[in-house]
Amino acid sequence: MKVPLLDLRRQYQSIRDEIDPVIREVVESQVFVKGPKVAEFEQSIAQYCGTEWAVGVASGTDAILLSLMAYGIERDDEVITTPYTFFATAGSIARLGAVPVFVDIDPETYNIDPAKIEAAITGRTKAVIPVHLYGQCAEMDAIMEIADRHGLVVIEDAAQAIGAEHRGRRAGSIGHAGCFSFFPSKNLGGYGDGGMVTTNDEEIADRIVSLREHGQREKYYYCAVGANSRLDALQAAVLSVKLRHLGTWSDGRAANAAYYDERFAGTAVTAPHRKEHNRHIYNQYVIRVPDRDAVFAHLREKEIGCALYYPLPLHLQECFEPLGLKEGDLPESERAASETISIPIFSLLTSEEMEYVATTVLEFVERSG
Ligand SMILES: Cc1ncc(COP(=O)(O)O)c(C=O)c1O
Repeated sequence: MKVPLLDLRRQYQSIRDEIDPVIREVVESQVFVKGPKVAEFEQSIAQYCGTEWAVGVASGTDAILLSLMAYGIERDDEVITTPYTFFATAGSIARLGAVPVFVDIDPETYNIDPAKIEAAITGRTKAVIPVHLYGQCAEMDAIMEIADRHGLVVIEDAAQAIGAEHRGRRAGSIGHAGCFSFFPSKNLGGYGDGGMVTTNDEEIADRIVSLREHGQREKYYYCAVGANSRLDALQAAVLSVKLRHLGTWSDGRAANAAYYDERFAGTAVTAPHRKEHNRHIYNQYVIRVPDRDAVFAHLREKEIGCALYYPLPLHLQECFEPLGLKEGDLPESERAASETISIPIFSLLTSEEMEYVATTVLEFVERSG
């Protein structure tokens, strides 16, 4: 049996009747940039996340970049974040000439460890970017308390976490701004790149509206230097259809996670740890295993889709050498990077496929242990 890590063709087949007409509608209208489809989708996301405003941009990366710009983050400012995330989180900070300050993770959730944040705050710290990794919120209550005490802006990197909840509040509505990605592999994925910023701050929403069009206030008059970073109408149309299914898909992922959790309980495989007060949307199901590289090679040989998110933490990336961090500085992130592996979790997996994945992992781990 061959099991893909993610099979978006299955998803498309299940909603083709809804998707094809809206794509045609956009093409017929020939309105590809801005327009009613984008405005409608922005409103739906604001409502879904529980914020006043949502502003569509070209990608999750730009959502982070433009949020930082909207909050006035600039050269030499320090922004605290996790090294165990997709590159875009820290890359966006560095692109502004600001300094990513990496704080190690909680080994159970893989999210930034709030207990370690305060020691990283200096007079130059302006913001914190917690990442809701794999679809589970970081400990936002603790993070907001620290940020409030130190007057820091909190920008949630919710790229992997649309619909995730922390103590009943949705990802993207807890910090000062939330950043989403609609990259195709996300729980809410478009047919290309796309992103969104959510916020309750009207002034910040206005700034992002301006920054996504080069910083214009009105046509051909510019009050800031921004970017060309708009969400296009085709993506908005597709995403509006998919949003109607998101709850079912995320519940399907959670049900699949519950199956794996049960299979891995009491074995050498460490299943993801979900905090009781969180709703986890399982954008990824990531297990910790002994001899990870051997497990990875074995699953590939068995044609089971799997991936390493992420093999090298950001503080050890070549481009961040000037920060002067070395191996051993952030041990939990380094350990997670060498011990974890992501296995198929998408909602349309069959029970036979999941059974095969779980059995293959367990047989290998037990045999080698
Ligand atoms: C945690 C995280 N942050 C940011 C991004 C960037 O999003 P995009 O790929 O849409 O630019 C991603 C997407 O992969 C992500 O997973």
